[in-house]
Amino acid sequence: MKRTEKAILVTGATGRQGGAIARYLLADGWNVRALTRSPDKPAARALADRGAEVVRGDLRDRSSIQIAIQGVYGVYSVQDAWEHGVENEIAQGVLLADCASKAKVEHFVYSSVGSADKNTGIPHFESKWRIEGHIRSLNLPATILRPVSFMENFFVPDTYDAIYGGTLALGLDPDKPLQLVAVDDIGIFGALAFSHPGKWIGEALDIAGDELTGPRMAELFANAIGGNVEYVQMPIERIRTFSEDYAAMVEWFNAKGYEANIEFLRAIHPGLETLEKWLLRTEWKKREPVEPATAGGSSLRKK
Ligand SMILES: NC(=O)c1ccc[n+]([C@@H]2O[C@H](COP(=O)([O-])OP(=O)(O)OC[C@H]3O[C@@H](n4cnc5c(N)ncnc54)[C@H](OP(=O)(O)O)[C@@H]3O)[C@@H](O)[C@H]2O)c1
Repeated sequence: MKRTEKAILVTGATGRQGGAIARYLLADGWNVRALTRSPDKPAARALADRGAEVVRGDLRDRSSIQIAIQGVYGVYSVQDAWEHGVENEIAQGVLLADCASKAKVEHFVYSSVGSADKNTGIPHFESKWRIEGHIRSLNLPATILRPVSFMENFFVPDTYDAIYGGTLALGLDPDKPLQLVAVDDIGIFGALAFSHPGKWIGEALDIAGDELTGPRMAELFANAIGGNVEYVQMPIERIRTFSEDYAAMVEWFNAKGYEANIEFLRAIHPGLETLEKWLLRTEWKKREPVEPATAGGSSLRKK
């Protein structure tokens, strides 16, 4: 069967990494079936405009998954730990893998997280390790992708506005580097995996494109936006007030950190983006003076 006759069910397709996977699979000639709870939302309509088949479904609802998975060749699996909490994330990841096994899907790509296999103790890393274990127990023909922190986190409105206001505030110790990845590169590795199943089934790969300290990131943001950006370390107690899970991750970033082999990854995918390249592509630019009448509706805001 030719690729143009095969479909891949992409979960999280209206989100960041699933969206990137869907775009790169479509560009590679696959049929993409995009699962969403809200087929009318703009991100779902944009996928349909690009040629995806958008289907209504919910990762908590077995029958909707069974319908969506019918006849597909492959599945890209991602769950949202933050919206649902880690126990529900595990339940959803397990349910999707079970449905894929029953449907005899030929290639299952699961998006985990960098170092999920390293006994980190971080709740939303351990949940992904549990899902990985379930996938292995089913003997699914699977590839595990383990992305590190997304560069797209800088588009979270408070972070984005703070950077343009002159401050990059993270919990990271100033001298401790953090690995980052552009979600487009997750899309590229996912598409590579589906295109070369013989090479990728049975593999697990941590994915990062750059590794740099907070002060170095601030320097690159300053160059991109043409102003001063100072790195400030956010106290861990403050981070803990909004999420114990997030604070555990930041403590682990400072004590240990991701260990993707960037040199090895760049040999597979030479276009792998550094933060500097990502800032150029995603158009972080010198902020234009805002007219009082339009203040508050800045067109620079991305999300
Ligand atoms: N941010 C990082 O730095 C980072 C790094 C590594 C791993 N991760 C992991 O990445 C995951 C989130 O991925 P993301 O940031 O790409 O997602 P995202 O942009 O936050 O989007 C969430 C996606 O999940 C879908 N979704 C949520 N609940 C659903 C449900 N019940 N049924 C069907 N679809 C559902 C949403 O679809 P609809 O709303 O359209 O239904 C949406 O497409 C998390 O598990 C996180 O731990 C994040």
